[in-house]
Amino acid sequence: MAKTAILHAKQIVQVEQSPVQRVSGSMMNTLPCLDNGFVLIEKGKIIGVGSMDELPNIDGFETIDASGCLVFPTWCDSHTHLVYAGSREGEFVDRINGLTYEEIGKKGGGILNSAKRLQNASEDELFESALGRLSDVVSTGTGAIEIKSGYGLTLDAELKMLRVVKRLKEASEVAIRANFLGAHAFPQNFKEDREGYIQLIIEEMIPAIKSEGLADFIDAFCESNYFSPDEMDRILDAGVAAGLVPKVHVNQFTSIGGIEVAIKHGALSVDHLEVMQDSDIKALKSSTTIPTLLPSCSFFLGIPYGPAKELISEGLPIALATDFNPGSTPSGNMPFVLSLACIKMKLTPEQAINATTINGAAAMGLQNEVGSIATGKKANLFITKPVPSYAYIPYSFGSRLVDKVWLNGILQG
Ligand code: NIG
Ligand code: FE
Repeated sequence: MAKTAILHAKQIVQVEQSPVQRVSGSMMNTLPCLDNGFVLIEKGKIIGVGSMDELPNIDGFETIDASGCLVFPTWCDSHTHLVYAGSREGEFVDRINGLTYEEIGKKGGGILNSAKRLQNASEDELFESALGRLSDVVSTGTGAIEIKSGYGLTLDAELKMLRVVKRLKEASEVAIRANFLGAHAFPQNFKEDREGYIQLIIEEMIPAIKSEGLADFIDAFCESNYFSPDEMDRILDAGVAAGLVPKVHVNQFTSIGGIEVAIKHGALSVDHLEVMQDSDIKALKSSTTIPTLLPSCSFFLGIPYGPAKELISEGLPIALATDFNPGSTPSGNMPFVLSLACIKMKLTPEQAINATTINGAAAMGLQNEVGSIATGKKANLFITKPVPSYAYIPYSFGSRLVDKVWLNGILQG
């Protein structure tokens, strides 16, 4: 396999001499960088990083001149629904005309709308469309991603989605983690029989997923009109018993106790958090669960942004992800997430970059493989077009500044 030397980079961003597991609180204000640097890649891994005046012998390496450019670790997008069928721009127009996301859901739109389409799509169609989206987000710098099921809502369709995720893992160099979200919504035929659907998840879906080894995580949408904290409690119990790690949707519209339940089950992350009470923050402080915020969902739905600054000032780590899905966030663009985090949540570029790299990796349990430029980690990195500084990335919102992306040391595109 080719050996690559990236040379003369104006700056290497998020370099680690001794890798950390995550960055929390005031540590998020610091972004370790190296000026006029090199990165050496061999056999899919980073084998050296340093400043140009200490460059070792690079005979046999293909060289890339990165003068004027920055080198970043690829973004770690720890929350997506990348596998879906069709689109929902009709609901987008309904919202422009005054309906809320919840009202659209109640009249059979929303998640159930996507479920109907997904149930009618073949595994191959789903795979092809998801692979297209995946290569699109790679071109914007994403190199690790979590992908959920949850638009199946029947045993067969949930398995179909997770098999697509498995095929994506095999077909792509992106580091992928699968999250089982059978508890995304109650299907129409179980509206009057919630218990029946919960039994289906616990008795049939989870065992089938376990036996095929199709998921790493278990999710539930804990929200008024969706799954209650008690219902999520039972589902997470069954998931954990099957070896799945909880990573859940909570506090998007209401704070109803989901965070405490998730923490009780050792959740890796709790995601959304647009609506938070003091007791929720207190619970997070006594846990290792990573609060994950989704600013492009807030942007698209016009709902509040999660309290990013407050969580950091309480000493917590935060991760930022896209929530890419056809209903609440039809975009997997991590540079836009960075811009929103800085512009709308008032994060500094350092905080936002930590939240989209090392903390995003930690929110997928991938912090030892990706999330920073460090010797021994996967060579998942990108170089930018010539830019004045790393703050220029969130500043120039909507611009395409990612130039070349390597995943496992392989140049993409
Ligand atoms: O994370 N809130 C729950 N699930 C998705 C949206 C699902 C949809 O509208 O299709 C989310 O925002
Ligand atoms: Fe989501």
